[in-house]
Amino acid sequence: MNLVLDCDPGLDDAVAILVAARYADLIGITTVAGNVGINRTTRNALVVAQLAGLDVPVHRGAGKPLAGEPVDGSRIHGETGLGNAVLPDLDRSEASDDAVAYLCDTARSVDDLHLLAIGPLTNVALALQRDPDLRRHLAGLTIMGGSASAGNITSVAEFNIWADPEAAAIVFEKAAPVTMVGLDVTNQVVVGAEETARMRAAGTPAADLAADVTDFLRDRFRQYVGQSVVPLHDATAVIAVTHPHLFERSRHPVAVEVGGEITRGMTVADLRPPALIEAIGPARVAASDIVWDTDVDAVRELIVEAVLAY
Ligand code: RIB
Ligand code: CA
Repeated sequence: MNLVLDCDPGLDDAVAILVAARYADLIGITTVAGNVGINRTTRNALVVAQLAGLDVPVHRGAGKPLAGEPVDGSRIHGETGLGNAVLPDLDRSEASDDAVAYLCDTARSVDDLHLLAIGPLTNVALALQRDPDLRRHLAGLTIMGGSASAGNITSVAEFNIWADPEAAAIVFEKAAPVTMVGLDVTNQVVVGAEETARMRAAGTPAADLAADVTDFLRDRFRQYVGQSVVPLHDATAVIAVTHPHLFERSRHPVAVEVGGEITRGMTVADLRPPALIEAIGPARVAASDIVWDTDVDAVRELIVEAVLAY
């Protein structure tokens, strides 16, 4: 399958790039501001591609959300966005500074194209505003984002949605059906010291980077969450695209809260029975495929094996 990855590397985004290139035909990467600023997310995507020896174009995208100011995830992802990994001098540069044009052009020109967004949805929303038929030209649109249960950046909001709720609302409404790989499932796929040691033992630049970023993430989780295993949200979303049979999903209306003082960035999933929703007839919102559960051990092994394959 042809895959374009829209990302904000970002510790777990870095692992996701390795996994995406291993199990899909990763034809392009687009970057967006999120975990860190756009200059750093773009540089980090180029670094990961370089260390992994990937010949994949990186297109720079939006530097700030549709509304409000850019968020900052550096307290989790570190100042550079890749923890304390030693980053090489780049032997490559970005293919363009217009991710939105790339997304629109590629959707129309490449068959069997899956778009996976694992950062704030700013680029995808801008692409939809530029080409309202975008979704029709995609074989699939999957996001790592949202939650039908608790949040992570707030009590109810997941970071990628919270970082640009206006963009997320556009995507859920105008690009249905979206496959939502949210915290409900990604929080289950955790890695710990054993997986990091396996990566470190491989001794390749890509595996060393994956070990560095997961070690850094584990340190931050020990500090903030009190646990020594960490969810690889973005890499799990990649596997949900490349190995869909491993995941359980169901279709429900999902709305994005943009106005709530407390709930801004929340993905509000309507889990009532469809017949009841139809009977009571609330304001209709588009339906999305919410991913709930997976074979955690199988997904974890696919992620580690992908890292070890470089
Ligand atoms: O909530 C998890 C998401 O936000 C992931 O994409 C991770 O990169 C973090 O930024
Ligand atoms: Ca991300």
